[in-house]
Amino acid sequence: MMEHTILGPGFAVEIKSVDLSEEQTPEAVNAMRDLWLQHKVAVFREQNLEDEDLIRFAEYFGPTYVYVRDQFNDRQRPAITIISNIEKAGRKMGDLGDGEVHWHTDQAYSREGSFGTILYGVEIPEDGGATCYGDLAQAYEAMPAPLKTEIADKLVTYSIARAAETQKLGLPEAQRRAKPPLSHPLVRTHPYLDRKALYISPNHALHVDGMDAEESAALLEEVHSYATRPEAVYCHQWRPGDLVIHDNTSTIHRRDPFPAEQRRLLRRTGFLLPEAERARF
Ligand SMILES: [Fe+2]
Repeated sequence: MMEHTILGPGFAVEIKSVDLSEEQTPEAVNAMRDLWLQHKVAVFREQNLEDEDLIRFAEYFGPTYVYVRDQFNDRQRPAITIISNIEKAGRKMGDLGDGEVHWHTDQAYSREGSFGTILYGVEIPEDGGATCYGDLAQAYEAMPAPLKTEIADKLVTYSIARAAETQKLGLPEAQRRAKPPLSHPLVRTHPYLDRKALYISPNHALHVDGMDAEESAALLEEVHSYATRPEAVYCHQWRPGDLVIHDNTSTIHRRDPFPAEQRRLLRRTGFLLPEAERARF
């Protein structure tokens, strides 16, 4: 078993004594995967990684994908997206600026979703900018039985355009057309574990399918409130060299704002479920 410490309330784990700039043995990959899946968020500190290391790490778990808002994707390695507020000669270097990023699941507006997201901290502001994760398996478990029954077969429709609007991000017409609204089940069983969890993305959600607007909004608000209870949230205070990987099938996340004059630079990549598991999720 790899050396590890639990960081959050019943989930989120720090995995120690691993250097991700080196290729990992199959045994080490399995040990990391087990710890990550069980705890949903895994943190590796004091890493020194190139983009190729991030991609190699991602591909241990599934095939990488290219983010549709490709303005800030790395030109050489398009599966890497730059997340930053830094401007060079008046031009933004990366996505998401310095504001709050509201609760969401990555790629909820995509048919195939995103299995895992990897964030790697390069420059970190002194104040703010923490990334907070909510445990959607704990949220589901905490729900009363009648609510579980009510949501058992519900689908929710998601749209990238909604998040682009709330976050005041540009969404060119071609990108909007590439990702039309679509729906996913509200409750899902983990593709590798016999564990049910909510599947939600408040920042992308339009409505519960088949419900009128008022009912839908009330149900979504109730469901979302379980997912953001402080007792099932872990906030990660970044340090340069931190790598954090989270399971989008079992968590939601948000980001605190930070002062505009402080620099923040993260490099991000993500991966899909391998095809066989995708069909079962
Ligand atoms: Fe995200």
